Amino acid sequence: MCGIVGYVGRDRGQGSSVLDSVAPAVDQESADGQHGALDVVMEGLRRLEYRGYDSAGVAVITADGIESRKKAGKLTNLVEELAADPLPRSLTGIGHTRWATHGGPTDQNAHPHLADGGKLALIHNGIIENYAELKAELTGEGLTFLSDTDTEVAAGLVGYLYRGLVESGAQGDLLTLALQQACQRLHGAFTLLAIHQDQPGTVVAGRRNSPLVVGLGDGENFLGSDVSGFIDFTRRAVELGQDQIVTITPDDVTITDFFGAPAEGTEFHVSWDAAAAEKGGFESFMEKEIHDQPDAVGQTLLGRSDVSGRLVLDELRIDESILRSVDKIVVLACGTSAYAGQVAKYAIEHWCRIPTEVELSHEFRYRDPIVNEKTLVVAISQSGETMDTLMAVRYAREQGAKVVAICNTNGSTIPRESDAVLYTHAGPEIAVASTKAFLAQITAAYLLGLYLAQLRGNKFRDEIADVLADLAEIPAKIQAILDDAEKIKQLGADMANAKSVLFLGRHVGFPVAMEGALKLKELAYIHAEGFAAGELKHGPIALIEEGQPVVVVMPSPRARDSLHAKVVSNVQEIRARGAVTIVIAEEGDTSVAAYSEHVFYVPASPTLLAPLLTTVPLQIFALALASAKGYDVDQPRNLAKSVTVE
Ligand code: AGP
Repeated sequence: MCGIVGYVGRDRGQGSSVLDSVAPAVDQESADGQHGALDVVMEGLRRLEYRGYDSAGVAVITADGIESRKKAGKLTNLVEELAADPLPRSLTGIGHTRWATHGGPTDQNAHPHLADGGKLALIHNGIIENYAELKAELTGEGLTFLSDTDTEVAAGLVGYLYRGLVESGAQGDLLTLALQQACQRLHGAFTLLAIHQDQPGTVVAGRRNSPLVVGLGDGENFLGSDVSGFIDFTRRAVELGQDQIVTITPDDVTITDFFGAPAEGTEFHVSWDAAAAEKGGFESFMEKEIHDQPDAVGQTLLGRSDVSGRLVLDELRIDESILRSVDKIVVLACGTSAYAGQVAKYAIEHWCRIPTEVELSHEFRYRDPIVNEKTLVVAISQSGETMDTLMAVRYAREQGAKVVAICNTNGSTIPRESDAVLYTHAGPEIAVASTKAFLAQITAAYLLGLYLAQLRGNKFRDEIADVLADLAEIPAKIQAILDDAEKIKQLGADMANAKSVLFLGRHVGFPVAMEGALKLKELAYIHAEGFAAGELKHGPIALIEEGQPVVVVMPSPRARDSLHAKVVSNVQEIRARGAVTIVIAEEGDTSVAAYSEHVFYVPASPTLLAPLLTTVPLQIFALALASAKGYDVDQPRNLAKSVTVE
């Protein structure tokens, strides 16, 4: 939640070219290619807006001191504000897009917040839990506050400490010192970035349990909530540890802990390119990301086996003897990632014969779970920053469990705090509603399951090779669904006035049904619920009335245990009560047409791999329905891409 950017550059002369359409005519780039702070910050905010879009703001250091502009609503409002009231050229700046926690989404509550008589500007991501206590203390010292935010209290504290240092005659980098002292007093989760007009050419940041990465440039340096904050300018990045302060100047990056002791970060190369985070001709990021899915699955499979067909997961640096002795797997995740875990449970238990539980991260650690050295925790997170999952990972490790992260974001916190990581290679996912990350997560979790089965001897090599061969066919099958999506798009658009849509599935189709319902809730703001088809008769069937749309994820007729016949019976039961059924079935399953108002076929696949296909029409359906309602599918209301608060 909240996107944060910081920039500082060396003065190499001035020119007059304008960088982009985001901040028209607001800043300049010099003739030798030097960036203006506002260019960089606005470009970073444009890329980070998916993290929160309740308000946006910037502050820069100019010859006359700190200047700031901020505006409630989406980034475009700030762009308009900057066009109406431009900022002078600057080489030091910070910017913020907000997902509101303390205080509503107003201009006043937007960041940056100023302190020290307007000489200091500060932005923040996270929640400062002891802000009320600090506010009372600072008010007692004569400070006044204009907003309802915890951030303004943090700004006030840093400004107050800065002033104290000046008055005590302290020398040197007082902003870094003040931020160190402030961070020692703050409780909760935070990334703070501050600039002070008396220290042009310096941006100081502190982090605890909240994301921050450094971008390394030539005569310029960057800060971002994630690498997309500076991906247009550099691919060299530095991961920071917990409870660290980083000070960037044009030529230096200095890292300490909160007490000033020197610390180090870890440099890494950003493999995503800027174009991967653009819409590429599609109307929305979500549409583009749905179309990225053949690639997302293909890339996640790439390079995971050796010439003899043996599965090799180099990143899985956990002692093989520990993996052999695992007697329980606990998958921890939230939202869509948790549904990926639920799909994977069927496969992992089937292939490895290890009992596997899937638990929402925020429920896990508060119920005294049974976790020990023989438990393997699999933490699934697209962003790698979800606070609920991070806290659950920490708890599990404290209990002695080994943790493998399945993550899409290099340099993020969850992989860094896990024992090993299996990266999904879906590329940047910008739309708030997760699509390609979901399929990539299932793929990665399947690779993990197959690897454990190989290691523990649950499956013969040729059996594993067969599943890998089936997985290798999935990208082309997804492409076939995408190439033939007009009918489902049309149905989504035709159903724009639906008040409620139910989803039914069985076996691996059950989590797919829940994921289909989640997509519709978050994008179209209508009631949608996913049920296990077998559970219908135990209560939910009472919801069925004349005209109720029900999407059914039909198992393959070739599947074991007559699941197909049972779900067909469920379809008949709801049709008899007036439901309008929309069935996602396997190609060749001609029997369902007689029982469905609408049928959409996906290519045949083994049962366990079917979710990689049946999910796709549900994504397209939700996208089409929400688009027909005129909603912003990339930035649905009230949501943020990366949920970094508990
Ligand atoms: C899915 O469309 C949502 N945006 C949300 O449920 C998401 O999957 C969840 O917040 C978990 O995020 P993560 O994968 O980054 O941890």
